Amino acid sequence: MRNLPPDFPSVVPQAGDALVLVARIDEWRDGEERLSAVERERLRHLTHPRTAETFVAGRSLLRAALAAVLGEAPETIGLTLGRHDKPALEAPGDLAFNLTHSDEHVALALTRGAEIGLDIEPTAPPEREAVAEVVMTPEELAAFRAVPGPERDKAFLSLWTRKEAILKAAGSGFSVEPRALAVGFGAEAGRATLPGYGGWFAVRAVERPGWPPMAVAFWNSEVGNTTLLEV
Ligand SMILES: CC(C)(COP(=O)(O)OP(=O)(O)OC[C@H]1O[C@@H](n2cnc3c(N)ncnc32)[C@H](O)[C@@H]1OP(=O)(O)O)[C@@H](O)C(=O)NCCC(=O)NCCS
Repeated sequence: MRNLPPDFPSVVPQAGDALVLVARIDEWRDGEERLSAVERERLRHLTHPRTAETFVAGRSLLRAALAAVLGEAPETIGLTLGRHDKPALEAPGDLAFNLTHSDEHVALALTRGAEIGLDIEPTAPPEREAVAEVVMTPEELAAFRAVPGPERDKAFLSLWTRKEAILKAAGSGFSVEPRALAVGFGAEAGRATLPGYGGWFAVRAVERPGWPPMAVAFWNSEVGNTTLLEV
């Protein structure tokens, strides 16, 4: 079973700053023994093998990181679900996290004192243009249509990851229409509001050569430094 590196930084950064861990599913998929009883029960119902491997990899990475930070056994750390199923720590405290997965990777963002959302998307969908009409505001759609052909996948993924990261920071996921959220194009870091969710959100692309596009978002906090770690 894969472990975090011995120099894993157990000090989690404060709100605005984030520690982002990226792991290969194939290297973390045998971490079932870190899972809680509730997670093992959920695993039993995941009949598609890759879905099951992805779930184990994500929760194993999450629990390994939480265990290192909290000094507790991974499988006994209590997690709870928000209104739209966003996982969070059961025990009161300011430690916040969010998981995301793609075909090959799981990624985890950790911070303190602010809700955080993370999204990773390796490829734009084949029906990119149709999806754009459903998820973009009229202004975003107009700007997207002006993007030259070879750059459209990149533009789509930049907008999509930033939108989903905000929806995940809010904990709403797609219970809120992505079209109700304006993030625009081009801005490296930007602010947005979300109907029904007070305050504001800040979001930023997280880029590293060789990694799929990602974005991290905070609720009521600017995005500061992002420390990236391949584990
Ligand atoms: C949150 C949501 C956008 C995630 O979609 P996804 O394609 O699985 O995206 P990602 O891979 O980026 O994220 C998955 C992880 O996000 C976390 N997550 C789950 N629900 C979440 C929520 N509401 N907010 C933030 N994070 C959430 C989980 O850790 C999940 O992984 P795990 O279950 O293996 O631990 C989507 O599930 C959603 O919109 N949920 C809420 C709305 C709802 O109830 N929809 C029902 C189906 S329409």
